[in-house]
Amino acid sequence: MLRSETMERKQKETCKSILITGGAGFIGSHLVKYLVRQHPDMQVACLDALTYAGNVANLGDVWEESSFHFVVGDVTDFKTIKEILSLYQVEGIIHLAAESHVDRSIVDPFLFARTNVMGTLTLLEAFREHLATTNRKGRFYQVSTDEVYGSLASEESPFVESTPYAPRSPYSAAKASADHFVRAYHETYGMDVVLSSCSNNFGPNQFPEKLLPLFIQNILHRRALPVYGKGENVRDWLYVENHVEAIEKVFFAGRSGETYNIGGHNEWRNIDLIHLLIEIVDEKLGRPKGASLSLISFVQDRLGHDLRYAIDPSKIRQELGWTPHYPFREALEDTVDWYLGHPEWLEDIFTGNYRKQNEAVRKKNNFIA
Ligand SMILES: NC(=O)c1ccc[n+]([C@@H]2O[C@H](COP(=O)([O-])OP(=O)(O)OC[C@H]3O[C@@H](n4cnc5c(N)ncnc54)[C@H](O)[C@@H]3O)[C@@H](O)[C@H]2O)c1
Repeated sequence: MLRSETMERKQKETCKSILITGGAGFIGSHLVKYLVRQHPDMQVACLDALTYAGNVANLGDVWEESSFHFVVGDVTDFKTIKEILSLYQVEGIIHLAAESHVDRSIVDPFLFARTNVMGTLTLLEAFREHLATTNRKGRFYQVSTDEVYGSLASEESPFVESTPYAPRSPYSAAKASADHFVRAYHETYGMDVVLSSCSNNFGPNQFPEKLLPLFIQNILHRRALPVYGKGENVRDWLYVENHVEAIEKVFFAGRSGETYNIGGHNEWRNIDLIHLLIEIVDEKLGRPKGASLSLISFVQDRLGHDLRYAIDPSKIRQELGWTPHYPFREALEDTVDWYLGHPEWLEDIFTGNYRKQNEAVRKKNNFIA
């Protein structure tokens, strides 16, 4: 048996209670649903502030499960976090809560520093105190992004784990800073930590400010498709369920103190991906091939727009045996089907109705520390 398999089995047996932050967001909600399904003996508590990006509807059927607990709270609120860690006897944290949209970080960098940096530090310190006072062992997992490595030129090799950090937007600078705190807790206090840096995700339940859900909507309603610059920026796309499976591997089997890059060797120039998306959506809507190409509208480029991100995932493949399970084209088709088949989910966001559902949960679940 591989070292990682032995470790994975041992960790799965010992970790009985986990805290997921940001579980009402895009990736967090997929992760929560997956873990509750895969680990029926583990308590899964979820902490989310329900910002504009959080949506309680993303969690679907998981609300019915007795092993699932939802708390509305902020990752910068030390007292609340301490109470949650104690109430659920938490033995592991997977930290996803963040402000995640680069365009918003350009408008309000302070918010990104508050949530992404101070939020991570607050969680680390609360977890350290919790483990010390309860005499427990526990693992902290920081879900990070390939954007911390900066931007690649077109001929450069993809990012590896030892690529120096060179963040270039307030979003990636805040994520990078948080990652440094996580590593500092490992070195200084001996905290058991793991980190991962993943490429661009896509899939159901992604807030429709991000490229794929926004463009699927716009094609459906024959609205313009705003493409930054000339659409030549390159991103490495991964289906969210592939990311979730990788997170499970890293959490249970990753070596303490290590970082794992997660990606699917799937680089696309934005303009090429948009052409493929148009082809798929038009076909599903029964429109002639290329009917929506005229919707493409080139707009002024984002400030400091990184040219290219690309991930080398050799380490996670070799050490933990992870490879993307869902092929890209099928996953993209499934994603388009999901958005076209769930107009009510999008409608609730565009009308603001989802905020009312969030408020109802907030009133019921707000945690009084
Ligand atoms: N989406 C991607 O392509 C991608 C790729 C790599 C890494 N990541 C990382 O994965 C994580 C999740 O990304 P996502 O796309 O699901 O983000 P998202 O914006 O969809 O969700 C973020 C969630 O965090 C919650 N949140 C925000 N501020 C909070 C606070 N102060 N306290 C508690 N909860 C708060 C929001 O309510 C929301 O539910 C982020 O840390 C992001 O940096 C994302």
